[in-house]
Amino acid sequence: MIYVIGSINTDISLEVERIPKKGETLIADGCQTGLGGKGANQAVAIARLAQRYDDGRKAVKLIGQVGKDAFGAELVSKLDSYGVDTEYVRRVNRGTGVAVFASSGKDKRAFVYSGANLGLSKSDVDEALCSAKSTDTLLCQLEVPTYIIGYALRKAHSLGMTTILNPAPAKELPPDFYPNIDIIIANESETQTLTDINPKDWINCHEAMAEFHRRGVRYVVLTLGEDGATFSDNGSLVGQIPAREVCVTDTAAAGDAFVGALALTYPHIGMYSFKEAALFAAKAASITVSRRGGVDSIPSFKEVSALYYSEIK
Ligand code: RIB
Repeated sequence: MIYVIGSINTDISLEVERIPKKGETLIADGCQTGLGGKGANQAVAIARLAQRYDDGRKAVKLIGQVGKDAFGAELVSKLDSYGVDTEYVRRVNRGTGVAVFASSGKDKRAFVYSGANLGLSKSDVDEALCSAKSTDTLLCQLEVPTYIIGYALRKAHSLGMTTILNPAPAKELPPDFYPNIDIIIANESETQTLTDINPKDWINCHEAMAEFHRRGVRYVVLTLGEDGATFSDNGSLVGQIPAREVCVTDTAAAGDAFVGALALTYPHIGMYSFKEAALFAAKAASITVSRRGGVDSIPSFKEVSALYYSEIK
C-alpha cells in the first residue's frame, strides 16, 4: 500500500490574453476547474498507473482534509472515481483548498489558498498509519504543515516503511528531516532552495545530490524539465535520463505524474531497479506534458509500459 499525505485543492485555471496590470480587470478567454493539490494529484497518478490488486484492494490511500463545502464533496467523489482510497480524507469546518492559475502563453501565475489542508494533525497521521507495514510506502510533499510531514516521515521510517519526499513547494527543512527520507525527488528550484546549489549542469547536479546524501537521504532524483533528470544512490549508481522529445502541450500535473510513477514502480512493484523506475517515471511525465489538462492527462500503466519497452530496446 502507498500512503500519500498531502493537499487536496480545487484548481481553477484561467486562460488570459495577457497578465493584468495593477488595478486592471481582464476578461478571461477560458476557464477550467478540476481536482488538484499535490497530494491528490500524486495519489491519482498512482491510482491511474496501478493495476488494481486481484482482490479489488486499492493501491493508494490519501490522508488529507477538505471542507464541508460543495468543493470538498466534489473532490472526494472525484478521488473515489479515480480509485484512490479516501477513508482518511476528512471533511472539516474550514474552506476547501483552492489554487487559481492565470496563463498567458508560457507566462503562468498561481495563487494557492491552503484552507482545510492546514488542519492535518499528528493524530490523523497516527490513525492512518496504524495498520501500515514495513513493505508499505509513505509519499509526502510540502503543501500541508511542515511539522506534520516531519512527524509522518519519522513515524514511517521507524516502522521500516519506504519514505519519499517531493519537497514542493520549496521551503527550507530542518536537518532532522533528511535521515528519515529514503528517496527525495526535487526539481531545480526546490534543489536550489534546499541545498543552495543551482543544478544547472552535471557538476552542480552531482554536488547537489552529494549534499542530499551527506544529510542522510538514500536516493536522490533531480527533475530538470527540458534537461531530463539525474539520479544517485550514494554508491554504485549515478546517472542521467535525457528528456524525451515531445510536443509540450500542458505541463500541469507532469511533476506529480513523475513522482507518482516512481513511488509506484520502485519501492512498490519491486520488479524495477531504481534506475528503471526513474526511466519509467520520466516516460509517464513525458506523456502527461503532451496532453492538455491536469490529472486526466496522466497515462495508464499500460500506456507508459508500451512506451518504456519500445524505447529501451
Ligand atoms: O502540482 C500541481 C498542484 O499544485 C496543483 O494542482 C495545485 O493545486 C497546486 O497545489
